[in-house]
Amino acid sequence: MNVFEMDPTMSEVITVDDSQKLFVIRMQRSFYALRALPDGQVVHVGSGPLAPDAGPLHLAGLDGYEDPNYVCEQQGRRAELLAFGDISYHDVGLKVAFLEVAGQLPKGHAPHLPVRDVRLRYQRHEIRTDAAPGLSPTHGRAIRRAAVLRPVLIVHLQDAAYDFRVRLCYRVTPEYDIIERWVELENQTAQHVAVESLAFASIHFPPGRYELTRSAGAWAREFVPVRQNIEQGVTEISHRGLNTGHASNPFYMVHEHGSAGEDAGAVYFGALAFSGNWSLRFEMLPTDALRMHGGYEATDFSLTLGPGAVHRTPALVHGVADNGIGGASRRLHAFARDYVLPGYQDDQFRPVLFNSWEATYFDITLEGQINLARAAAQMGVELFCLDDGWFGSRRHDRAGLGDWAVSQDLFPNGLTPLIEAVKELGMRFGLWVEPEMINPDSDLYRAHPDWVLHFPGRPRTEARNQLVLDYGRPEVVEHIFAALDGLLSRYDITFFKWDMNRYASEPGSVVGKAIWHAHVAGLYSIMDRLRQAHPRLDIQSCAGGGGRVDLGILGRCDQVWTSDNTDPFDRAYIQDGFSLAYPPRVMEAWVTHDHNHQTGRVVPLDLRFDLAMRGALGIGSNIDKLSADERAAYRRKIGFYKTIRPVVQNGDLYRLARVQDGGVSVWQTVLPDQSQSVYSIAVIQQLQGHHLPAYRLRALAPAAIYAVRDENGARLGRYSGAQLMALGMPGDQRNGGLGCAVRSRTLLLEKVADQEPRYPSMGAET
Ligand code: GLA
Repeated sequence: MNVFEMDPTMSEVITVDDSQKLFVIRMQRSFYALRALPDGQVVHVGSGPLAPDAGPLHLAGLDGYEDPNYVCEQQGRRAELLAFGDISYHDVGLKVAFLEVAGQLPKGHAPHLPVRDVRLRYQRHEIRTDAAPGLSPTHGRAIRRAAVLRPVLIVHLQDAAYDFRVRLCYRVTPEYDIIERWVELENQTAQHVAVESLAFASIHFPPGRYELTRSAGAWAREFVPVRQNIEQGVTEISHRGLNTGHASNPFYMVHEHGSAGEDAGAVYFGALAFSGNWSLRFEMLPTDALRMHGGYEATDFSLTLGPGAVHRTPALVHGVADNGIGGASRRLHAFARDYVLPGYQDDQFRPVLFNSWEATYFDITLEGQINLARAAAQMGVELFCLDDGWFGSRRHDRAGLGDWAVSQDLFPNGLTPLIEAVKELGMRFGLWVEPEMINPDSDLYRAHPDWVLHFPGRPRTEARNQLVLDYGRPEVVEHIFAALDGLLSRYDITFFKWDMNRYASEPGSVVGKAIWHAHVAGLYSIMDRLRQAHPRLDIQSCAGGGGRVDLGILGRCDQVWTSDNTDPFDRAYIQDGFSLAYPPRVMEAWVTHDHNHQTGRVVPLDLRFDLAMRGALGIGSNIDKLSADERAAYRRKIGFYKTIRPVVQNGDLYRLARVQDGGVSVWQTVLPDQSQSVYSIAVIQQLQGHHLPAYRLRALAPAAIYAVRDENGARLGRYSGAQLMALGMPGDQRNGGLGCAVRSRTLLLEKVADQEPRYPSMGAET
């Protein structure tokens, strides 16, 4: 761990009032406060928006906010990490069992064991700066703001009876109102401790009535936004898996009932930086107090700490926005760009990718791929990715998974002829891999039938004809690392599409229940080591579409596959929801065939491109079979994408309309200096006779003049920022009459002149 002394300029971010044992974290537009009570319990004081020009935050009369009379004193206590112990029957973030008890037990007391009671009491605190994040990627590529040292508050707690230590860690990113929280457990007792339930943090919301915005879905329907009331009792969103899951995603936005919209209202948001079994459990008490525990999903979780052992959890990244759901999204996006993604640089962009899957599926030939590569290069594609089917006996999905050797039948001279052709055409080469999986019909399985998750002597389930490798075994992790490292050493491969195509079942492992986090640790370690050894390698996370998207994997991956569903009619929903938590830059989106392979719909080329150009553009259609006109259109649109991509990939996102709210999705991205903006409208469904509302643009310089142009370079006019922000883009309010039921366009706005502002600027975004 790279620990430095506190930078004096940060002294105002975390302040400590020793007389009250009060810790106040002061961020750009919000605060977060906690304190140690006289009995040693560390409780939440409050958090929320705060005007940037609010003076020093003096907090007094804090006992007046406590509610000690709820049944008995402890029930309403807002402990910073609620633990199973003291008097508590509500949900907790930590439950441990002390498995042995030192010394003589009174006669007849053995059945009382193990001791399931932990009482966390304040010991001391420290403030540090820590260049190694709670997200702790060790990929060897700097994050964008690597030079910025952020302050970390560490509060040391200890069980009241045993030397079992818990450290609550708060790393602060004040400019985005974000705190990364994680927990470190240290067992200094002489006995084993079983951790049965463990959150990375407990969060307390101000008293009130709340709604939750999150995403829900399924394979091919990932990320669809859901807004629901939070009622008394427990509301849980979770996934019990070795990946993040399609059905829900580990982020939340909590807002007071009815009070928050896209642009306004206080929104408490958070996201887990973990890619395995996760859970976000909200509990609304009978008093209407709302708390949340975010961390490992507990059903089959257990972590045993021997004497001296330490466990450090991943992070819960959380904060509060004072400017609505959009403001929460922009904070999470900026945080991911600056502090999570590996190797982000402002002048380097996600390349335009071609992927062979929907073009050829398992029907791979060297000649066929070279033909595709030629067509791709002519269109302006920059990265050519060969998908599933290139290795071992993998001519279909029933065999070969696990055998990461190039198929001699398909490529008698290895991949070199294809890679050389791709490189001569001016593109980089990428390859599909699925390193956590194995077909029983594979050489690897025949050699090591015990390398899969299973319970001995019991049936096991195959999904897509495959089993899950046991990453609890160091030799399995080593074998997979060596296989992938061998490919990268032998060939000029600079991109892996890293897939994961089934959920876990029968999770028997050599490490027992620890497999839930051991698998993720093994996965991360392979990615990190590969990236260190091969610094030019980029990785795209994929799990049967968008099944592994979270801030943990984004610490290792440059982009993610959003969904196997490439139909823009569905994608508009998927991408709107994806963007709630994750930035457009990482959102890989392909243009595929006019007859969509997932839904059978016929989709206009404009709509396919306009939706795909909102993220990292990819091409997935059978491009060597297109007409000359179609190829020319692809080439023109890809060229236009390259012009707008600095704004799409680096800019701040404003969702002017979500498709769920009226059939129209409108996205606008703006560079922070307001010099350029991209406006993208997709009218998915509009009734005849229905006129659209004005989609007012955001965050432009009001006094500046912007020239607006389309993909053909046609100049559509010059408008002031003030006009576009007051009236919207001319031409988009028209009636949904004949021929315009489905339409879309993407426009680039470039600042061409500044006018003198009439009044002095009001300053920051409101
Ligand atoms: C998954 C991926 C697809 C493709 C196939 C290959 O379904 O999501 O994009 O790579 O696997 O088998």
